Amino acid sequence: MNISYLNTEPARSLKSIEDIRHDFPILQREVNGRPLVYLDNGASTQKPQVVIDAIAHYYSYYNANVHRGVHALSQEATAAMEASRLTVKHFLNARDEKEIIFTSGTTHGINILSQAWGRKNLKAGDEVLITEMEHHSNIVPWQMACELTGAVLKVALVTEDGEIDMEGLRSMLSERTKMVSVVHVSNTLGTINPVEEIIKAGHEVGALVHLDGAQAIAHMKVDVQALDADFYTFSGHKLFGPTGTGILYGKEKHLEAMPPLFGGGEMIKTVTFEKTTYNDLPFKFEAGTPNIAGNIALGTAIDYLSGLDWKAIRAHEVLLLDRTLDGLNQIEGIRLIGRSEKRSGAISFLVGTIHPFDMGTILDKLGIAVRTGHHCTEPLMDKYGIPGTVRTSFSIYNSEEDVNSLLAGVQKAVQMLS
Ligand SMILES: Cc1ncc(COP(=O)(O)O)c(C=O)c1O
Repeated sequence: MNISYLNTEPARSLKSIEDIRHDFPILQREVNGRPLVYLDNGASTQKPQVVIDAIAHYYSYYNANVHRGVHALSQEATAAMEASRLTVKHFLNARDEKEIIFTSGTTHGINILSQAWGRKNLKAGDEVLITEMEHHSNIVPWQMACELTGAVLKVALVTEDGEIDMEGLRSMLSERTKMVSVVHVSNTLGTINPVEEIIKAGHEVGALVHLDGAQAIAHMKVDVQALDADFYTFSGHKLFGPTGTGILYGKEKHLEAMPPLFGGGEMIKTVTFEKTTYNDLPFKFEAGTPNIAGNIALGTAIDYLSGLDWKAIRAHEVLLLDRTLDGLNQIEGIRLIGRSEKRSGAISFLVGTIHPFDMGTILDKLGIAVRTGHHCTEPLMDKYGIPGTVRTSFSIYNSEEDVNSLLAGVQKAVQMLS
């Protein structure tokens, strides 16, 4: 399989892979006496030194709570966190920083959306449309919102090759559809979904469209205005930022119309025992003390990524994906789970009857970190009738040597386990 027809104009790399690798201290370490080969980026990316430093700098020099203090440290912390919000706004090309809600990750963002928007806008007979390839984070919160409101959860099917059956999806859209919530890039299959088409189709029947961008955000330029997405969620830790950070983007008019989900400090204007008035966007959705260090360092991570070139990132990724697919396809008994030609990040596979866990354990002994299991997509595993897969997932610092190590490791595991 060759996926090079995708957007792979000549790479204009601003930094060599070597240089990028040097920015990530963890990549220098050994695991089980071997140089670390980190291929679990879909689960979480490693952090460049600048992100680690940003966290240490906050705690070392200006640790204080935000938005509440007249003193210098509080004002510095507030300025840094709000600067980070502005960085996210530019990164997503949002219209206004009011549209950028800090969350603890994709899961948190989807839960805010499904509950705050869902409770107000869903009623019995309404429909929420998702797909068979969703992560549990984009299934369970909608199930919960539907249970609460009497709305119905509809599921568009996925083809054997791991693409959304677009004809099927279109046939499920109607005036009853109030929300379409779809993963931008599948964490299990690696498929890049035709989200522009889905957004347009959703809007044609009057539905809003949310994209789960957890696996897309570090791999491609996301422009929420060009996409015309109503909501977009992602996690900071999959974007070289800290764990416990993330973003819920929403068009201002939708966020304005949504009630807050959590109550407490920060999200209020005035409180009496009789009545509370809520704060303006984005603070209405940010009750309590936020993850200040994390939110600041998320901005640093985005600045780091913005210093690279998207075309070069994509070209490098396509090279790694092509080599891996070519190599895997030469292994007897290989079964690729997800064979879309429009792919990014992840490749899932099985070899013969070898259990993914056994393959993963042998690879770990060789210093190679891959993910094994259902990848939080149990319904998708059920569809393919498998317990799980081995998943390799790439990032900007993975090298061709990493691919060679993986392929050699898989061959070795096959010899040992067959
Ligand atoms: C597609 C997708 N959606 C949602 C999530 C959940 O992300 P988090 O656990 O950071 O909230 C993940 C994590 O792997 C994912 O891959």
